[in-house]
Amino acid sequence: MSSLTVTFVEDNGTVRTITGVAPNQSLMEVGRANGVEGILADCGGACACATCHVYVDPQWEDRVGPPDDIEAAMLDMVSEVQLSNSRLACQIKLSDALDGLKVTVAPIY
Ligand code: FES
Repeated sequence: MSSLTVTFVEDNGTVRTITGVAPNQSLMEVGRANGVEGILADCGGACACATCHVYVDPQWEDRVGPPDDIEAAMLDMVSEVQLSNSRLACQIKLSDALDGLKVTVAPIY
């Protein structure tokens, strides 16, 4: 089985590169398991809290893709800090295609 690398930039600027990540889990789960600051995931990944909000690095936007309608509605709840590259980390499922993914954790709102 392959393993992946993902990088989170925390709101305070700390860069957290995590290696050996198993695919088929969400980006939120990886953030939580590794203590990434600002990934609170209050709803446990049910797309119902927006406390796993990240900004996808521009280089990765095409591969990650846009949010679906339910996720977009949730992101509207944090519109004060929403950007065009906003996604909820619990809705990003990791795969080989996302090996190297880089995101910035959105400020907690
Ligand atoms: S963990 Fe709640 S929306 Fe992602």
